[in-house]
Amino acid sequence: MTDLNNLKTHLLSQVDAAATLDSVEAIRVHALGKQGEITALLKTLGKMSPEERLVEGPRIHDLRESVTAAIAARKEALESALLEARLASEKLDMTLPVLPEPQGSVHPVSQVMDELAEIFADLGFSVATGPEIEDDWHNFSALNIPETHPARAMHDTFYFPDERNGHRMLLRTHTSPVQIRTMTSQEPPIRIIAPGRVYRSDSDATHTPMFHQIEGLVIDRGINLGHLKWTLETFLKAFFERDDIVLRLRPSYFPFTEPSVEVDVGYSVEKGQRVIGGSEGWMEVLGSGMVHPNVIRACGLDPEEWQGFAFGTGVDRLAMLKYGMNDLRAFFDGDLRWLRHYGFSSLDVPTLSGGVGA
Ligand code: PHE
Repeated sequence: MTDLNNLKTHLLSQVDAAATLDSVEAIRVHALGKQGEITALLKTLGKMSPEERLVEGPRIHDLRESVTAAIAARKEALESALLEARLASEKLDMTLPVLPEPQGSVHPVSQVMDELAEIFADLGFSVATGPEIEDDWHNFSALNIPETHPARAMHDTFYFPDERNGHRMLLRTHTSPVQIRTMTSQEPPIRIIAPGRVYRSDSDATHTPMFHQIEGLVIDRGINLGHLKWTLETFLKAFFERDDIVLRLRPSYFPFTEPSVEVDVGYSVEKGQRVIGGSEGWMEVLGSGMVHPNVIRACGLDPEEWQGFAFGTGVDRLAMLKYGMNDLRAFFDGDLRWLRHYGFSSLDVPTLSGGVGA
């Protein structure tokens, strides 16, 4: 009687202490296998008298059941602990970067746009944006280019087939519509730059159907051409990081400015290469002028009270001049070799003390 009790206590504590599935299995074979201790006890039942069997039978069966259940429970506990350990050790951190180092870099266009925002922020300009899908009023009419104006034909515009709210929709051909959007939504005085994509149906080494412009607009009282010239000079000196920047202002024509001025920047030739600075030759860099009274009026402002200047230039062209690329199309090929050659570290942050000289 006590033997059975002792055996039960012994086996159950062994099962409890088993640390591996293998040792649980060893206990099972030892107790319940063909040669097992409990199997041997069961075999003794046949030789017992019926009275003895009535007493011993249930006790031996109870022993077998308890040990079987304990073994199954221990096995399950060990198995789930094993699974937990595997899950913990084999987990993947999905937030880790796929590659240890970034492969791309900042595109020269982004770099130049950042540099321009930085330079103009220092002059008190904020950045404004407008939609790339425009209506003809913002892109043309409000800019003093009515339906019949020949300048509309000059713009090689991509038109959408449908009208929206009675307006013909198009891909903006310049960033100048942002002038209109700013003047109609903001009280003067206004000092903004507007960088962004523009579209024209044109493609060769110096033209791509999509390119980048940056617009500048100042609206205030008593603004004159001198303010424009100083602003452009200051901006170009900071951008090209040279003090010997010489500007040449040529009379020109834009429907939305009067007078209109085209600005050339002087270059010199160093080791057979054109470099900005000096005045051996001239390169056209931007269009500008005093905002036409009709434009100011179209935006609901009184041109007697408010005047201003505007300028617009190609960001890609500025990048080519500053960083020495010669084919505009390569800007949009997405060729990593080109980007590695001309690109910038992805951690580059243009500031007035680094990246852009003051
Ligand atoms: N929008 C003109 C262009 O695309 C540039 C410009 C802007 C000229 C502002 C004058 C004033 O060519």
